[in-house]
Amino acid sequence: MAQPDRRGGEPVPTHPLAVVSNREPYIHSRSADGSVAWSPTTGGVSVALDALMRERGGVWIAHGAGDADRLAVDDHDRVRVPPDAPAYDLRRIWLTDAEEHHYYEGFANEGLWPLCHVAHVKPVFRAEDWRVYQDINRRFAHTVHVELPDFPAPVFVQDYHLTLVPRFLRNLRPDARIALFWHIPFPHPDRLRICPYRREILEGLADCDLLAFQLERDRRNFLAAARAELGAKANGSGLQVGDRAMAVCAVPIGVDFDRIQTVTRSPTFAAEQGKLRRELRIDTALVGIGVDRLDYTKGIPERLSALDALFTRWPGLNRQLTFVQIAVPSRSTLGSYAAVEADIDRRVAAFNARHAREDGVGPIRYRKSALRMRRLAALYRLADLCIVSSLHDGMNLVAKEFVAAREDLGGVLVLSELAGAAQELTEAVIINPYDVEGFADGLQLALDMPAEERQRRMRALRRVVAGRDVFRWATEILEELENLDPRALPPAPGRLPGKR
Ligand code: G6P
Repeated sequence: MAQPDRRGGEPVPTHPLAVVSNREPYIHSRSADGSVAWSPTTGGVSVALDALMRERGGVWIAHGAGDADRLAVDDHDRVRVPPDAPAYDLRRIWLTDAEEHHYYEGFANEGLWPLCHVAHVKPVFRAEDWRVYQDINRRFAHTVHVELPDFPAPVFVQDYHLTLVPRFLRNLRPDARIALFWHIPFPHPDRLRICPYRREILEGLADCDLLAFQLERDRRNFLAAARAELGAKANGSGLQVGDRAMAVCAVPIGVDFDRIQTVTRSPTFAAEQGKLRRELRIDTALVGIGVDRLDYTKGIPERLSALDALFTRWPGLNRQLTFVQIAVPSRSTLGSYAAVEADIDRRVAAFNARHAREDGVGPIRYRKSALRMRRLAALYRLADLCIVSSLHDGMNLVAKEFVAAREDLGGVLVLSELAGAAQELTEAVIINPYDVEGFADGLQLALDMPAEERQRRMRALRRVVAGRDVFRWATEILEELENLDPRALPPAPGRLPGKR
């Protein structure tokens, strides 16, 4: 299969791919008038993988969570996506409410998510959640088996929801070539020990041919845990677990840099910015932004404390700076998420009352809904500063998207040292979200920064973000997977588009 190189070069042969994730890239839902509408999933990871699939083709297997998802699929539960420019199959898996409750909300998000993020929310492990988590992972693996074409198409599994898929799939298809990318931090073995099912999870992961993490720190934590819990032995840069060898690497994820350039260079982009400015009622010279899933790991309360310190220090700032906080509701049925949402709501109201101008308008515009890339890029471009203040984060693609949107070299990124992105984006203003005064110093530095320094830093950041885009991320992982055992390669192996 050959596809044109999107950079205008010779067509390069590529192989279709099977991506497996919990979250689907497109969702169908019922509109108010009863018709069926579709929308893309907005999170950075989904957007990044969708870009990859549009290039390669193949099948993406995911939970069909939309209330009209069943209406859009064929008899095999498949739908071609993107719906307006079909490029690959989306194969939906159905879960009952009870299954979603135990597998997704319970085990994945009340157990593994807080286990892996140092954000002081206690992980909860329940036997019933674990039982359903195993069942659903088995269902995903079985579906991959059914969908796999005759030749060994690479299977690219995503994240902590699906740790057992490699094991179940290996049992069904010993020839499958399986990579799993772990998007979030991987805990130190001491912390992993909290999880009563850690051994089964490590065994599940050990059936990958290739396991990839964001950072070297995550990779080291996994290697140490596999040695301690499974008696695995070092094997080159990977591991020997029983009679199986696996590669273990660290490859930081990136964004679709070129697509963001296309969006920001479109002739109507300036108009989009003006529209957004009016909608958000921005009438100040300076704009700050935060864009996050509404998650307790993102450090939004800490950000509000630092902004409070800044506005307190700097009388009159309320007439100069508007801060836009976009918080996309997430996992809201869980108590820990409802609690952080209520805390942020309360803090924003108190902040706006405390720092209101004479006309009664407070500095924060708080919107709880997702933005599509065009609007998001317009917001990024409006900002004099963008704050990413995660308490712990695997990578954080908002930080990279912001940089990708700033071809004008304007704006300053204020970035938590506890986000994975801080390892690469060293020219950001690095802050610690737990240090309120130091964080406020960082914000002040960003606002006072001379234009030359701002541009120098942004230029350097853009080099990093452009040089490690989502295609390079995928190329590194999938080429490594395909090169592990050359005998099993399908005919005419080729490079992926986007490889530089
Ligand atoms: C993180 C995870 C992803 C997940 C995303 C959105 O980035 O690493 O796997 O899809 O959050 O969370 P949600 O629960 O809405 O899928």
